[in-house]
Amino acid sequence: MAYRIPDSWMDRFYSQLDIVQIVSSYVPLKRNGKRYVGLCPFHHEKTPSFSVTPDKNLYYCFGCKAGGNAVQFVMAMEHLEYLDAVRFLADRMHMPMPEMENDPNYEQRKNKREKLFEINREAARYYHRLLWTDAGKPVLDYFRKRGLDDDVIRKFGLGASGPDRSGLTDELSAKGYDPADLIEAGVSLRGESTPYDMFRARAMFPIIDLHGQVLGFGGRRLDSGQPKYLNTADTPVFNKRFGVFGANLLRKARDLKRVILVEGYMDVVALTQFGIDGVAATLGTSLTEEQARLLKRFAPEVWISYDGDEAGQRAIMRAIGIFEHEGVPVKVLFFPDGLDPDEFIRQRGADAFHAIEPMTSVAYMMERSAVGKDLSKDRDRIEYAKVCCGIIRKIRDPVDRDYYLGILSLKTGFRKDVLIAQMTEGSQTEPPERPTAFQRKQMDKEVPSAVRTTEAERLLFALVASGKLPKGTVTEEDFVSPVLAGAARMILGGKSPDEVIRESEDPVSRSAIMEALQTEIEDDPETDPLIAAQDCLRLIHLSASKARLEEIKKQVASMPMDSPERAGAMKRIMELQKEIQLLNKKQPTAKDKHI
Ligand code: UTP
Ligand code: MN
Repeated sequence: MAYRIPDSWMDRFYSQLDIVQIVSSYVPLKRNGKRYVGLCPFHHEKTPSFSVTPDKNLYYCFGCKAGGNAVQFVMAMEHLEYLDAVRFLADRMHMPMPEMENDPNYEQRKNKREKLFEINREAARYYHRLLWTDAGKPVLDYFRKRGLDDDVIRKFGLGASGPDRSGLTDELSAKGYDPADLIEAGVSLRGESTPYDMFRARAMFPIIDLHGQVLGFGGRRLDSGQPKYLNTADTPVFNKRFGVFGANLLRKARDLKRVILVEGYMDVVALTQFGIDGVAATLGTSLTEEQARLLKRFAPEVWISYDGDEAGQRAIMRAIGIFEHEGVPVKVLFFPDGLDPDEFIRQRGADAFHAIEPMTSVAYMMERSAVGKDLSKDRDRIEYAKVCCGIIRKIRDPVDRDYYLGILSLKTGFRKDVLIAQMTEGSQTEPPERPTAFQRKQMDKEVPSAVRTTEAERLLFALVASGKLPKGTVTEEDFVSPVLAGAARMILGGKSPDEVIRESEDPVSRSAIMEALQTEIEDDPETDPLIAAQDCLRLIHLSASKARLEEIKKQVASMPMDSPERAGAMKRIMELQKEIQLLNKKQPTAKDKHI
């Protein structure tokens, strides 16, 4: 049986939700009449198109069309399932969750996540304890060899997995943990006869989230065998896309002016040991949009400090693209001689580290574009100048643009005005902008026809939702879009718009409904809602007839002359043309632009 919260509790919950307060804790909002506006957290933008309407308790972005209520906002921001988002908000509002006596599985379900966190915390303690024993000695020696002192080992809770097949599994089982849970938490693996430890004889790096909960581990081999690092597989509480290593310390750091993003666990630990704060690493994958957004919360900019090798440098280019797409100002710390941050700071010290000036992303990209090119050769020089013009074109501030054009001109010998011409008129060969996660979802679904709506339909829907129409004026069949038809049915059946949004789980359909709800209904008493609705109906009808006409015309082209079906089709065309003429004759009173 699915877990259900009583409606009375949900009603109380929704009535106490303050969407402005919730959204403001993620996005700075400014009041603008009845709305609050700000920069959309779901896509990159420089001018605000994200709005929150407190009297409707809804948010909507006019840019990327993401929209919904406060719970759906938190689901998207925190990557939570519906119930977890409700729980998250209820917790913040100090509203206790309802007692669920009628669901025997409730306690179990509620405790599942906590149980997995607890197992991970127990495992972290076990590994840390083992580090100071004989079984952990090789790992402790290894940490010492890499220059870590006890303080930093404790700060990160580093540990050692022992050489035994099932040391951790046995200990936790003896403590009463169900082996099935140990497997689900990712610390044990299912064996042929008995479960055994996931990590053996490795240096252990616990991955701890913002709230201090242990999500999983990275484990490094001490020898040069492969794989060098083993990471906890994705579990119900751990997804590599969403977290970063060092998140718990990031949260504690105050007034960071930048976050330093490195590639490896060891880089985070080593830089911290040398007194550099605000360092984080991805979890054995390349940077994701979610991680970029997470990092943005801690400082005004991110400095990418990947390894100095070719792979690291290539990854920087990719990461710059992701940060820029998420609207995160980004710079690059470049380490000479192919060193990674850990090697660099150990060999040359913290002062040398601080002495490295971060490069702007443009300077970095321009430098990187010169790799493998011989600028004394005309062909390479021309190619290089063109690529750099593509990079510089994206700079907004004219002064900055001029600065880099100057550098490029010096480097390539082309006059600045030529470079400017190249920039504005040259072939625009850069790859198209990366779509946002939301747009991608829309593309993946490939059912835009189901959610595609016309302006007339949207206005009609807004009129229905406003409750200003006499009963029977409009029915769900008047809508072409199945999504709006379904939503209209709910509203005509007595639901309020925010109830419709609450029940609309698919973000793409929801966005179509939200978009329609945003349609402004003129409030002046001169405009009669009934007349406006009739006008919408006429336009919807008109566009349907036009579409039908086009379709038949296309079919006719392939029908044999003098065939009876062609005659039938011709007759239908005449009828449709007459119908369209008639519909056109009625004076349009609403805007019929997008028909
Ligand atoms: P690196 O190979 O650069 O590791 O991989 P590192 O952190 O510098 O390790 P040391 O200095 O040799 O101890 C960077 C990151 O890529 C992931 C890990 O998250 C690692 O920290 N990785 C690497 C894996 O997940 N598995 C691997 O086999 C290797
Ligand atoms: Mn390294």
